[in-house]
Amino acid sequence: MNSIDNLRDDHESVVVFSAILEKIFNELSASKPISVSDLRWLFEFFRDFVIKNHFQKEERILYRHLPSLGLPGNQVDMLKEEHEVLRNQAKLLRGLVEDLAEGRSYAAMDLLDTGNAYLDLINCHLQKEEAILFPLVEECLSREMDDRISDRLTMLDEETIGTSRQLELLEVLNCLMNFYGIEVGSPEPDT
Ligand SMILES: [Fe+2]
Ligand SMILES: [Fe+2]
Repeated sequence: MNSIDNLRDDHESVVVFSAILEKIFNELSASKPISVSDLRWLFEFFRDFVIKNHFQKEERILYRHLPSLGLPGNQVDMLKEEHEVLRNQAKLLRGLVEDLAEGRSYAAMDLLDTGNAYLDLINCHLQKEEAILFPLVEECLSREMDDRISDRLTMLDEETIGTSRQLELLEVLNCLMNFYGIEVGSPEPDT
């Protein structure tokens, strides 16, 4: 597996996460009953799988190589800023899920407003990485460097949340994907 395959696999799971969350938001928007515990779990997934692991792999390893591959520094900074916005939005959304559980009147509306902006940013961020960053890395990275980065990404998988936690998260995500009837063969965020 080359370095980009590791990150592409993560993205495929994030696409599933986003599709489930979007479905729950649509139900909430239609005033249908939703599962607060599923929402809680989804933000736990985002915290562990995405913030603690995927973002770390990009920020601590991949992004560092981008300026030497020709991507201007300000574009790398923009990608990091998007991570920061997503971290903050996820934190806010976790709080709103608890507000919703406690029956606060503003919670559903705020959850939908912030939640939809958060989903848009996730989608935009993934597309940017897949359209610009990943092809650049695949084209410009030497085989040796790719192997080295790939090893470091695998090590970081273990150092951050660990393989067993990762598998556990992916297993539950898969169950929720089936439960909510999400069909994602390949990353197709707009369908
Ligand atoms: Fe990213
Ligand atoms: Fe990414």
